[in-house]
Amino acid sequence: MCGIVGYIGNRNVKDVVIGGLAKLEYRGYDSAGIATLDNDKVTVVKSVGRLTNLEKKLEANPVSGHLGIGHTRWATHGRPSDENAHPHQDCSGRFAIIHNGIIENYLSLREELQAKGHQFRSETDTEVVAHLIEELYNGDLLSTMVAVGKRITGAYALVVMTKDEPDTIIAMRKASPLIVGLGEGENFIASDIPAVLEYTRKVYVLDDGEMAVVRKDSVECYTLAGEPVTKEVLNVTWDAVAAERGGYAHFMLKEIHEQPKAIRDTLTGRIASDLSRVVLDEEVNWSRDFVKAIDRIHIVACGTSWHAGLVGKSVIEKLARIPVDVEIASEYRYRDPIQTDNTLIIVISQSGETADTLAALRDAKARGRRVLGITNVVGSSVAREADDVLITRAGPEIAVASTKAYTTQLVVLYLLAVYFGQERGLLGEDQVRDILAGLHDLPQAAEEVLDAAPQLEKFAEEWKDAHDTFFIGRGVDYFLSMEGALKLKEISYIHAEAYAAGELKHGTLALITDGVPVIALVTQTDLYEKTLSNIKEVKARDAFVLGVTFVGDEALRKSVDEVIYLPRTMPLLSPIVTVIPLQLLAYYAAVARGNDVDKPRNLAKSVTVE
Ligand code: G6P
Repeated sequence: MCGIVGYIGNRNVKDVVIGGLAKLEYRGYDSAGIATLDNDKVTVVKSVGRLTNLEKKLEANPVSGHLGIGHTRWATHGRPSDENAHPHQDCSGRFAIIHNGIIENYLSLREELQAKGHQFRSETDTEVVAHLIEELYNGDLLSTMVAVGKRITGAYALVVMTKDEPDTIIAMRKASPLIVGLGEGENFIASDIPAVLEYTRKVYVLDDGEMAVVRKDSVECYTLAGEPVTKEVLNVTWDAVAAERGGYAHFMLKEIHEQPKAIRDTLTGRIASDLSRVVLDEEVNWSRDFVKAIDRIHIVACGTSWHAGLVGKSVIEKLARIPVDVEIASEYRYRDPIQTDNTLIIVISQSGETADTLAALRDAKARGRRVLGITNVVGSSVAREADDVLITRAGPEIAVASTKAYTTQLVVLYLLAVYFGQERGLLGEDQVRDILAGLHDLPQAAEEVLDAAPQLEKFAEEWKDAHDTFFIGRGVDYFLSMEGALKLKEISYIHAEAYAAGELKHGTLALITDGVPVIALVTQTDLYEKTLSNIKEVKARDAFVLGVTFVGDEALRKSVDEVIYLPRTMPLLSPIVTVIPLQLLAYYAAVARGNDVDKPRNLAKSVTVE
C-alpha cells in the first residue's frame, strides 16, 4: 500500500501535503515524510510512526515552498524507521522520490549502482530509483524517467521532484494507483481521490503504464515510453467519507474487491520468472539441510488466520509430505505441545499483535524452536520477534471481518508448500511449473469471481431472515466452509455452522428441515461424487441448497436450488477463489439486515487480550 501526495501551486505546501496524507493514512501508517523545494533547495523531513510524529517534527523544523511531495508508508522492504521512510534521495540530494509498490529488481540495481559509487542510506527497494535517476539524469526529467522506467521492474506509483527543474513534478504508474487532481493555477497528485477532494473534484486517473508531467498551470500525460496521451477528466461526485472507501459502501466491500491486487502483490518477486521455483531466499534464512530436517510443523493462529492454517496443512502435507498440526493459539499455549528438535512453528496473524498468538510464539522460542511468522504488518510484534518472516502484502485491512488478509495468507502458505516440496526434492519440474502457473493466474480468477456479486446480493436479500445456515464441503472445501460460516456469523449475526459433508449424518442432519439454507462447496474433483451424495441427503430433507462449483458443472445444477460458478482453477488452489463468494454472501446478508458491516457488535480487529 502506501499513500502518496504531491502539490504544486501557491498554497502552503506543508498543509496540502500533510492534509492529503491524513486522508490516505488508511493506506499505511508506519512512517511518513515530506520533501519540499524552497529557495533552490530540496528539504526532506521524515519520521517513523504515525503522521502526528511527522507533524511534531515539522513544528520544530518548518518547511515551505511552492512544490512538495509526501508519503505515508506501509513497509514491505525494510522495517519501519526514519531512514526507511520516504521520500528517498540520491547522493547529491538534488532529487527526492516517493513510491508505492515493489521494485522487483532492486537488488541487482543496488549492486550495480553501489559499484558505481552510490551510497545507500536505507534498506528499501525504493532508494535504488533515486540513485538511478541521479545516474541517468540528462537535464530533462521526462526523458530521464522514461529511461528509468525501462530499467525497473515490478509495481510502482512513483513521484519525483528535483531542484534542477523547480516548476515540475513527474508521476508515473505501473500497477499501483495514482491520480492527478486538477486545480486553477495549482495541481495535485495522490494515490487516491480523497486526498484532493478538499481542493478539486476534477481528476485524471492515470492508467497502468502512464505518466504525468505536473506543473502549476498544466498537466501533460504520456505513456511510459514518452508518447503523449489524451486523458478524460473525471468529475468526482462522491462525498469525502465515501471517497476514502474508494466509492464502496463499506471498507469490507472495498477490501473484498482489492483481493486480485493483494494476491498479485503477495506473489510478486516470489516466483522465478520461468516458473521453475519459488524464491524465498531473501526473506527466510533457512539452509536446505534445515528444510530437509523439518519433521513436523505446528501452525498456530486465531480466527480467520487459523482457518488459513487449516488449508495450509492440506497443501503442505500434500506437496511436502511434512506432518502438520494446526492449533488454536489460546489452546496450544496451555497444553504442553509435543515438539521435536526439528519442529518448525508457523504463527499466522494479520495484525501481528494477537495476544494468544504472540504468547505461543514466545513460548515456542523459549523452548528453542525456530518460528516463522506470517503477518500483514511489517514492524508488528510477530514480524519483530519471529526468527523468519513472510509478509502478506494485502495492505491495511480496516474492516473487522478479515478478507484480503485471508486470501494473501493462503498465497503465502501455497508458496511455502511448493518451496518445501522443491527444497526437499519431492516435486518434479513440471509439477512445480503447473502449480506456479496456476498461482500466477489466480488474480485473474479472483477478478472474474467478483462478477457473482449481484447473484449473491439477491440470494442474501431473499434469505436474510434465516435462523440457521449450514456450510458443507470435503477436503479443503470443509476448511472453506468454516471460514464461510465464520464470516456470516460475525457480520450478519445469522447462526452458521460448518460441517465436513460426510459428517452431517452423524447428528446435525436432524437440524435440516424445510427451507433451511445449506451452502455446499464442491470444488474437489476427487471428492465430487461423495459430496453430491451428501447434497442429496440434505435435499431429501427439503433444505434449500446453494451449490458452489466450477463453471461447466451442469450436473450440480440439477441437484441444487441455485449455483454459483467459479472460474476453473486447479482444485488444489481453489480455496483462494472459493472464499470470495462466501465473503460476498456474508457481506450482503449483513447489509440486508442493516448491520454495521465494518464494525460488527462485540468484536475487535486486533485482539490484544488473552
Ligand atoms: C480477531 C479478528 C479476526 C482475526 C483474529 C485473528 O478476532 O476479528 O478477523 O481473524 O482476530 O487476528 P490476527 O490479526 O492474529 O490474524
